Amino acid sequence: MMNSRITAIGTYVPQRKLTNADLEGMVDTSHEWIVQRTGIHERRIAERDEFTSDLCISAVRNLIFRYNKTIEDVDFIIVCTTTPDFPFPTVSCLIQAHFHIQSAGAIDISAACAGFSYGLIMAHSLIASGLHKKVLVIAGETLSKITDYSDRTTCILFGDAAGAVLVEADDQYEGFVSHHVGSEGKGGIHIYRTGLANKLGDQKLLDNSCIVQNGREVFRWVMRTIPDAIHHMMNNSSQTLNDVDWFIPHSANMRLIEPLCEKLEFPLERTLHSLVEFGNTSSSTIPLSLDQGIRSGKISSGDHALLYGFGAGLVHAGVLVRLQLDSVVNEPLPL
Ligand code: COA
Repeated sequence: MMNSRITAIGTYVPQRKLTNADLEGMVDTSHEWIVQRTGIHERRIAERDEFTSDLCISAVRNLIFRYNKTIEDVDFIIVCTTTPDFPFPTVSCLIQAHFHIQSAGAIDISAACAGFSYGLIMAHSLIASGLHKKVLVIAGETLSKITDYSDRTTCILFGDAAGAVLVEADDQYEGFVSHHVGSEGKGGIHIYRTGLANKLGDQKLLDNSCIVQNGREVFRWVMRTIPDAIHHMMNNSSQTLNDVDWFIPHSANMRLIEPLCEKLEFPLERTLHSLVEFGNTSSSTIPLSLDQGIRSGKISSGDHALLYGFGAGLVHAGVLVRLQLDSVVNEPLPL
């Protein structure tokens, strides 16, 4: 079986900030409430004419610039998103056309906040099987376009961002150690984009589709499911949680991350998240947090990182990776 590893990473967030103070002027909320319940201080919001593919393109450009990578020979593109520009064509085809990538398979996958983990697992599988050699995995979201800014229970949470990684065949280095996936469709009603609501007789129109969430139920499901799932994943690997250098859970909420660490008996200091500055950016939170760990110098070559995504579906996926990215050629500009 061919090994693979993540060789390069790039990220992008839109320039426009939406702070808690801004939200105080939009709905009945307060900076204190938001910070105490979520840990979020601000998020980035795409311009009206800026779409998921634009964010993904900028993240890929950032990857190319930093690692001096050639991507015309990428042979498979996976875009993880719940907010594609169009139902079709896919964002992955827009990326293929933009970068003049030749002969690549191109597919979007929809697994909400678990999307990036699923994308990595698929990339690794395509390479391990010998079918492909160089896979571009991009997670991109413009959640602001489907957020109801009159609903204080959801509009405080979400932001826009994109992250991209290259996964390449490597006959020496075992960059993927283990993975775990799962789903619980009967809980899908607890977080959905309207459209499903239309089917269920909700009054909201598909054209104005937006995120609806029962935060308490999602919280309960995460706490009930994810610690066991992580233990299951570790039991199927050669490593233990003590060998994990960095835990990178989906940045949904600080009030989820803290009890998760407590339940796993994993030190919070070795956890990376992107919540404070960027909020919940769904599939993009994990690559954003990973990149922040790399940019800040916290993550070293050879470190084990446990990435675990969970969210709408309900669906979850995790992967234990051993990180050894190529050398950075150009220092990244600050986000
Ligand atoms: N500002 C002020 N008050 C708010 C508010 C806001 N932005 N949003 C809700 N409230 C109010 C509610 O109306 C409610 O008031 P009431 O008691 O008078 O009815 C009270 O605060 C408690 O609401 P509740 O929804 O029970 O809050 P919570 O403690 O569960 O926190 C979440 C809400 C969303 C932060 C929390 O449930 C959560 O983090 N859940 C996980 C969801 C998640 O991360 N999903 C993404 C997974 S991908």
